[in-house]
Amino acid sequence: MYANDSDTTPISLPDLALRKHSGTRIACVTAYEASIAARADEAGVDLVLVGDSLGMVVQGHASTLAVTMDAMVYHCRCVARGLRRAFLVADLPFMAYRDVPTAFTNATRLVAEAGAAMVKLEGADWVCEVIAALSSREIPVCAHLGLTPQSINRLGAYRVQGRDEAAAQRLREDARRVQAAGAQLLVLECVPARLAAEISGELTIPVIGIGAGPQCDGQILVMHDLLGITPGKRPRFSKDFLADSGSIPAAIAAYVQAVRAGSFPGPEHSY
Ligand code: KIV
Repeated sequence: MYANDSDTTPISLPDLALRKHSGTRIACVTAYEASIAARADEAGVDLVLVGDSLGMVVQGHASTLAVTMDAMVYHCRCVARGLRRAFLVADLPFMAYRDVPTAFTNATRLVAEAGAAMVKLEGADWVCEVIAALSSREIPVCAHLGLTPQSINRLGAYRVQGRDEAAAQRLREDARRVQAAGAQLLVLECVPARLAAEISGELTIPVIGIGAGPQCDGQILVMHDLLGITPGKRPRFSKDFLADSGSIPAAIAAYVQAVRAGSFPGPEHSY
């Protein structure tokens, strides 16, 4: 339940940018369907991502690579129906942005058919051309650096990125590049907390961390991790908020409060 009507005023991209400058941490979660999306919205989550993590936590695959555009559109439409307030972002899945024309077609589907206000894609290098093309055609883009799950076949394992100085330097440069290309948000996944703090301090766009320490401008958790129902080993950076909360709405509200207060992630969730 929303506490009052002002809680349902939709959050815009400029609102998120302002939060970086006012120091109000941005609380983000993933969702894949309407009911959980509605509970997240009511709990005060600022941004909901329909992540291609759905391939792992919803569809049961070992990676995100099998997720299709049709699946993303379907789940994004479901989530959009559950939201009144939170800013909605959807992932472009593996190979859905392999070149600029393909990215235009697929990003347009997520925005026009499925209701996303922004699309997320992984990487820098050649991806910067896609970021520039989409953002200059009024499709806001969230970049994603650090551990990029769509690169699993090159990386070989889901592990922390940017640990040695050369890799850290590459990550700093990639972060500058995606911002210069037009990205308006950046997700940093599984990077040392000090490096993430440095990048968040340098960039003018909000940086949302997952396994990137407490000093990012916001945090995101996969909903199934937040509720402690992800199959297999729990990632170090996640926390089961349901364990101490007694209900899904209370667990999401506890997460939002912990992000805003800066008490999540703690040192035990960081690298
Ligand atoms: O797909 C996803 O859920 C994501 C988050 C981990 C940020 O990209």
